[in-house]
Amino acid sequence: MADLKPASILDLATGSGDFALALGKCNPQATVVGVDFSAEMLRRAQAKGLQNLILADALRLPFQSASFDVVAVAYGLRNMESWSDALHEMRRVLRAGGHVLILDFSIPTWQPMRAIYRLYLHLCLPMLAAVLTGEKSAYRYLADSIETFPQGETMKSLLHACNFKHVLWKPLSGGIVSLYLAQVEGG
Ligand SMILES: C[S@@+](CC[C@H](N)C(=O)[O-])C[C@H]1O[C@@H](n2cnc3c(N)ncnc32)[C@H](O)[C@@H]1O
Repeated sequence: MADLKPASILDLATGSGDFALALGKCNPQATVVGVDFSAEMLRRAQAKGLQNLILADALRLPFQSASFDVVAVAYGLRNMESWSDALHEMRRVLRAGGHVLILDFSIPTWQPMRAIYRLYLHLCLPMLAAVLTGEKSAYRYLADSIETFPQGETMKSLLHACNFKHVLWKPLSGGIVSLYLAQVEGG
């Protein structure tokens, strides 16, 4: 993404700011703005040195249309109320020719890896979590949300339906994470 040389990056669901910090390091020329609807998470991001932080819902962004060169969201879109409404809102705040970058968990497509990962996700992880944290249900929710979140060709179709072009999908770490890059026409 550094090749795109963006001047402005919006990091949605910025949480405690790790992804926003990485974006800032890779794109030192860019202003990075972080948005989250949790004041507590923004306090943690601020403590890590992030400056441009805004408390807002990603589905109703307090920015004018065509304000950013890149909108990024890492491990955030999956939990949003409406994936399609969130993507439309991201598209609205992107400039013509701007890019959206989505990073999130996915299920590997290679069958042997898929079977092993599903065993880990649905059985081992909730059991381990129950022993270590007492929070089995949170990890059950995580597993279910990964299963239902659009991935691969389905995510590409969703991005096309939200009027993004040139959609790329790159499975990472054997497919347990997927990266999508798509562009707004023009620019
Ligand atoms: C797993 S954390 C994100 C971590 C961060 N992106 C990173 O990779 O460093 C998920 C965050 O999404 C935020 N979030 C979920 N839905 C949101 C929404 N509709 N608008 C803004 N923030 C949202 C939560 O408050 C939480 O801080």
